[in-house]
Amino acid sequence: MSIYENTLKTLEEECRLRNIPEGLGGLDLISNDYMSLATRHLEFIKEYQDRFGTPLMSASASRLLQRHQNEHNAFEKMLESLYNKKILLLNSGYHANTGALSAMSVPGTLIISDKLIHASMIDGIRLGHGDTARFAHNDMAMLRKILEKKASLYKNIVVAVESVYSMDGDLAPLKELVEIKKEYPNVLLYVDEAHAFGVFGENGLGLAEELGLLPEIDVLVVTLGKAAAGYGAFIATSETLHSFFINCSRSFIFSTALPPSVAAWDMLMIEKLVGMSEERLYLKELSEWFRNEVEAITGMRCQSRSQIIPIHAGSASRAIEMAQKLREAGIDALPIRRPTVAAGTERLRLSLSADLTKEDLVRVLEIIKVCF
Ligand SMILES: Cc1ncc(COP(=O)(O)O)c(C=O)c1O
Repeated sequence: MSIYENTLKTLEEECRLRNIPEGLGGLDLISNDYMSLATRHLEFIKEYQDRFGTPLMSASASRLLQRHQNEHNAFEKMLESLYNKKILLLNSGYHANTGALSAMSVPGTLIISDKLIHASMIDGIRLGHGDTARFAHNDMAMLRKILEKKASLYKNIVVAVESVYSMDGDLAPLKELVEIKKEYPNVLLYVDEAHAFGVFGENGLGLAEELGLLPEIDVLVVTLGKAAAGYGAFIATSETLHSFFINCSRSFIFSTALPPSVAAWDMLMIEKLVGMSEERLYLKELSEWFRNEVEAITGMRCQSRSQIIPIHAGSASRAIEMAQKLREAGIDALPIRRPTVAAGTERLRLSLSADLTKEDLVRVLEIIKVCF
């Protein structure tokens, strides 16, 4: 048996073998289409064509060598006026985090991260080969301890967090992080808003906007394949770091840029998202109600404060079994296992969106009841 076959066999024995799902088509509790914009895409195609015509389907070069930049430039300008920061488009959230964090790991830098940050951030930090430290999830006392010990030893410290954690749906204590940052002149705050963008904030710009903290965040990453119903990512940052990423971020320099057609679509979707305050409020209230119902059934406290609601199963096999029960009832939910989450914390990750109704979720709760 080859080493690769051996790996697959072990994964299978541990209930961790992944497959691309097939035959899904029930009630959607999987997608990150939080504002249901992706589901409604046909409504916007005519407006897209009237506004943009038929933009190119390929950039045909990396951004630094690209001949046709109109859509990218217009999109970045529009985002700059929303964030009041410099904006750099990247090809995906994975590109953004690997490119930015690896570039920031210059000698003299310490990157301190929350233990539950997304794999793309972990990979970026690893690629940088720099000095690193981690604090237990949302443990600000531990972050303070690391800073007390190490801040004076480094020229530059980057504290990297997500604003809404992708597997738990809980929030980073952004206010406290900003207070801590203010105590240290060499600390920069790096915040991935992948799951907050579109959902939090008056204009849907994310949790930093909701808390009035946008000016305090040094590097803010947003992915466009979730609530923004498109593809790609952007970084909102200072003039200096914007130019630094253009010059030093390898995933920006050495990869073909987003197709102009995609940049135009992303821009249209964000114009829609900005005005969706009613949907944001509806999703918030629906999520709160659903979370309380889940807590009552499971008897477990749920840390989520967002539209992402995990239901802990305790093992991979139980998570698979629960997903199967939901599937049989016409509800799409997938089990989340190692290495995405730690052993023993396997779960269903239910992702709510603005087109769900309470009646839909009552059906879901009935099946969850059977599992507990
Ligand atoms: C927190 C977070 N950051 C980054 C990414 C990567 O973004 P993308 O899918 O655009 O590569 C994801 C998930 O996909 C994510 O959940």
